[in-house]
Amino acid sequence: MKLRDKVAIVTGASKGIGKGIAIRYAEEGAAVTLASRSMELLTAIARQIEDAGGRALALPLDVRQPESVEAVVRKTVEAYGRLDIMVNNAGISMAHPSEDLQPDDWQRALDTDLSGVFYGCRSAAKQMIAQGTGGCIVNITSVYGLVAAPMRAAYCASKAGANMLTKLLACEWASKKIRVNAIAPGYIRTELVQGVIDKGMLPVGAIEKRTPQGRIGEVSDLMGVAVLLGSDESEFMTGAIVTVDGGWTAYGYL
Ligand SMILES: NC(=O)c1ccc[n+]([C@@H]2O[C@H](COP(=O)([O-])OP(=O)(O)OC[C@H]3O[C@@H](n4cnc5c(N)ncnc54)[C@H](O)[C@@H]3O)[C@@H](O)[C@H]2O)c1
Repeated sequence: MKLRDKVAIVTGASKGIGKGIAIRYAEEGAAVTLASRSMELLTAIARQIEDAGGRALALPLDVRQPESVEAVVRKTVEAYGRLDIMVNNAGISMAHPSEDLQPDDWQRALDTDLSGVFYGCRSAAKQMIAQGTGGCIVNITSVYGLVAAPMRAAYCASKAGANMLTKLLACEWASKKIRVNAIAPGYIRTELVQGVIDKGMLPVGAIEKRTPQGRIGEVSDLMGVAVLLGSDESEFMTGAIVTVDGGWTAYGYL
């Protein structure tokens, strides 16, 4: 119960990594707001958490709209009285040759993967400053914000921006008792990624070969770090970009 009595928001909690973090945070004792675009999926996960004895609230959210993010923070505080942990996880990926990448697609990725993270940090920080006790923010970025992957200009630029935002806001808000850290995952086998693997559209063998630990990650591989960064056990960590990638970014040989 490392998050007993904490209040957390997880964006993009209807699927994949966000769903995993929301369920794990509730298991660790946190009251969790699950926020995303699909209320149907969110409501089912919130019920699953409550059936297991946890506390959960499902709310609609579009991270591209600052007022939508503000509303999720406000309703969370109305329900649970405070906000301790903000997990900015919602994101989209896209792959296009850069010379053909349409401005609308470029903008959509930046709005979601970069601006959405900023709006989440900003709304959470306002509440954490107002309540006087601070809190912590965990941004889910990507190894592709640290190293380049061809045909993913908008994704890589957004994730690199989110990594820098993490460092900048950590420095700016340290005096307000707000910690800001990021988890930069490598390839993680979510339902979406598994679907792409099943269709033969992701060269999983080549990825495994290039990864020192010889496999792609599972959602469960991220949970230990997500709990650590949300808990008081990481009290002196801020501005860190923690890669969870089986050694992918460390590797620079043949
Ligand atoms: N799966 C991987 O291999 C991997 C690797 C590195 C980084 N990541 C990052 O982890 C995060 C989660 O990825 P995932 O693989 O679980 O993805 P996913 O597609 O399974 O889930 C994404 C979630 O974000 C939500 N979302 C998307 N746009 C939104 C918006 N505008 N407003 C609110 N919610 C929105 C979706 O509804 C969904 O709940 C993303 O930021 C992604 O870039 C994933």
